[in-house]
Amino acid sequence: MDATSTTTSPAGTGAGDGGVRQRVPALRRGRWRDVAGAANLLDSTGAVAPTVFATMSALAARTGAINLGQGFPDTDGPASLLDDAAAAIRAGVNQYPPGRGVPELRRAIAEHQRRFYGLEPDPETEVLVTAGATEAIAAALLAFCGAGDEVVVLEPYYDAYAACIELAGATRRTVPLRFPGYELEPGALAAAIGPRTRMILLNSPHNPTGHVLSPAELAEVAEVATRHDLLVVTDEVYEHLLFDGRPHVPLATLPGMAGRTLTVSSAGKTFSVTGWKIGWVSGPADLVEAVTTVKQFLTYVNGAPFQPAVARALALPEQHFADVAGRLQAGRDQLTEGLLEAGFTVSRPGGTYFVVADAAPLGYDDGMALCLDLPRLAGVVAVPVRVFHDDQAAAASLVRFAVCKRPEVLAEAARRLRALRR
Ligand SMILES: Cc1ncc(COP(=O)(O)O)c(C=O)c1O
Repeated sequence: MDATSTTTSPAGTGAGDGGVRQRVPALRRGRWRDVAGAANLLDSTGAVAPTVFATMSALAARTGAINLGQGFPDTDGPASLLDDAAAAIRAGVNQYPPGRGVPELRRAIAEHQRRFYGLEPDPETEVLVTAGATEAIAAALLAFCGAGDEVVVLEPYYDAYAACIELAGATRRTVPLRFPGYELEPGALAAAIGPRTRMILLNSPHNPTGHVLSPAELAEVAEVATRHDLLVVTDEVYEHLLFDGRPHVPLATLPGMAGRTLTVSSAGKTFSVTGWKIGWVSGPADLVEAVTTVKQFLTYVNGAPFQPAVARALALPEQHFADVAGRLQAGRDQLTEGLLEAGFTVSRPGGTYFVVADAAPLGYDDGMALCLDLPRLAGVVAVPVRVFHDDQAAAASLVRFAVCKRPEVLAEAARRLRALRR
C-alpha cells in the first residue's frame, strides 16, 4: 500500500484534522519501514525486531541459563586500562574529543599497525576513531555505497552488515562459506562480482564461523579486488584473537591492497571492553576523509575518557596480546570437547569468540528451535547460525556458542551440554 493512501489515524488525529495532521501517519510509515523491513529489522507484526542476541540474552536472564549466546567476555580487561579510564574521567577528560579522535589514540593506532603488521598510516590523515567498529563500517557503507550498488560479503555474515548495507540503499551479494571447514571456495568470490559491485566487506577472523582466511584465500580476495578495481573494507575486530600460532594478516599488507583497503578494528574484543565502543578505521587519506565526513553526522565523537586509556593499552607488551589469545584458545578447547562429548559435530575455529556446532547428529534439525529450548534442556543459551544467513537451509541445524567466558563457566556449560547426549 502506498504510504500516502493510508486511512489509519494515530491517536489524537481524527477525521477532519486537515492536510497537515493527515500526513502524520504517512510520515510515521515513511521510508524507514521499507528499509527496515528489507533489512529484516521488523518482526511479523511490523514492530522493530530485537536482535537475536538481545532475545537470547533476555532468555538467559529469564531462565538463569549460562549465556553462551552473545559474544561478550565475563571478565574485565587489563586493570591498567580500567584505571587509566577512571583517572581520565577524574582528570576531567569528559567533553567532546576532536572529531577524528584524540591525537594520542590516533598515534597509538598508527604505531600498533606498524608494530604488528608493518603498516604505516599517518595518524593525522589516515586514522579515524569511531564509535566501535560498527560505526566505521556503517559510515564507510554510507560514504561509498548507495542505490544500485552491490556490496559483497561472506555468508554467514555479522548481522549489522546486512542492516547497514540496506540502510545505505545498496544490495548485498553473498559468498558462501560452508560448515565445517568454512573455507572460501576457489572462484566463488569472483563469481559474486558484477558490474554494480562497489565494495567487498570482508571479515577475518570471521564471526560467526571463527574461520581465519588463509594466505591463499587473502591472495584471492586481493586479486579479485584489484582486477575489478574494488574498494575493500576489512573488519578485523578479532585481529588479536587467533589460535594455534596463526598470525593475523591484514588484507592491506598484501601487494597493491593498501591503496584500496579500509582496515577496521576496535578495542572491544582485544581488551574485553565491548561496552566501551571505541573503534577505528585506517587507510588511504581520501577514503578516511570520506568516512569522516559521514561519521561526524552519525555520532560526531564518542568516549572521550576511554580514548587515552585505549591508546595506552594498544602499547602493552606483545605478551599481553598473546596471553589473551591463549586464554580464549583454552576456552575453545574446553567447550569444543564438551560439545563433541555431547554428540555435536564441531567446526574448529582458528580465532574469535565463537565455536559453531551442528546439532543434527543429536537429532535436532532446527537450530532456532533448539536454541529456544536449550535453557530447559541443558541450562545453556546459544545462537542459531541461520540468523547470519540468507540461505537459512545451509545452516538449519547449526548453533553458535561463545567461548569468551571464565574456565569454570565453560566447564559447567560443557557438563550441562553433555546431558544432551542420547
Ligand atoms: C565481526 C564483528 N564486527 C564488528 C563487531 C562490533 O564491534 P564494535 O562493538 O566495536 O562496534 C562485532 C561484535 O560482535 C563483530 O563480531
